[in-house]
Amino acid sequence: MNAHQDSHAAPAAQTDRPRTAFGIDVGGSGIKGAPVDLATGEFAQERHRIPTPQPSTPQAVAEVIAELVGEYDLPPDVPIGVAFPAPLQHGVVRFIANLDQSWTGVDLPALVARETGRHVVAVNDADAAGIGEVRYGAAREADGVVLVATLGTGIGSAIVVDGHLLPNTELGHLEIDGYDAETRASDAARDREDLDWAQWAERLQRYFGVVEDLFSPDLIVVGGGVSKKHEHFLPLLHLRAPIVPARLRNAAGIVGAASLAADAR
Ligand code: BGC
Repeated sequence: MNAHQDSHAAPAAQTDRPRTAFGIDVGGSGIKGAPVDLATGEFAQERHRIPTPQPSTPQAVAEVIAELVGEYDLPPDVPIGVAFPAPLQHGVVRFIANLDQSWTGVDLPALVARETGRHVVAVNDADAAGIGEVRYGAAREADGVVLVATLGTGIGSAIVVDGHLLPNTELGHLEIDGYDAETRASDAARDREDLDWAQWAERLQRYFGVVEDLFSPDLIVVGGGVSKKHEHFLPLLHLRAPIVPARLRNAAGIVGAASLAADAR
């Protein structure tokens, strides 16, 4: 496979690649999963959601993931990909902003493999969304540097260069004007401070302006639940790169995690 084939769309031509993988997206309020058809990037069956346990400790979350997987009749060799809201270096959680602090240092794929008895791949949630958008969504035809930013409880980031992911960029935690950026510009900040669209767009302008100066992306894709309301804020942003809404919306994490799990098998 040459570098260009490697870069876009699911490598469906590979004969040993599974046709289906199971994707899970762990979030602050819900844990969602669905089997994904890897040829199309669509859910092969309906998505299920279980509220995130409180406190969101590793064991409690792993049990919910196992429950979710158990709701489907999956052959034993279906790969499982987990999208998780923290940087994961070779599967180990480095730090965590928006779930229980006891996750730090946990080997997530090992824990979930123990609970489910299956082979598990874990990836940062924004990285999963980035791969989802590059392979099946808004960045499918894009060459060069693609930045995918997810706006939710935090701000997640993925940088994909010609289809290759630079993992764990964590650009939501850039310090801008003395603040951890996601505490000012996430969708949760909009909600918490009751910002109107124009006020929030000013913060996003500052945020994306800094990110653009640092990374010169060729395309910026904005995901997270709020991206379905993109017409209220994306037109207010003025950046050099085109900035477009995610096409897979909230499904991107599940789809990307499933696709990455299939690569790893
Ligand atoms: C975390 C990232 C995550 C993002 C979106 C941030 O607080 O540090 O790892 O991708 O939130 O969930």
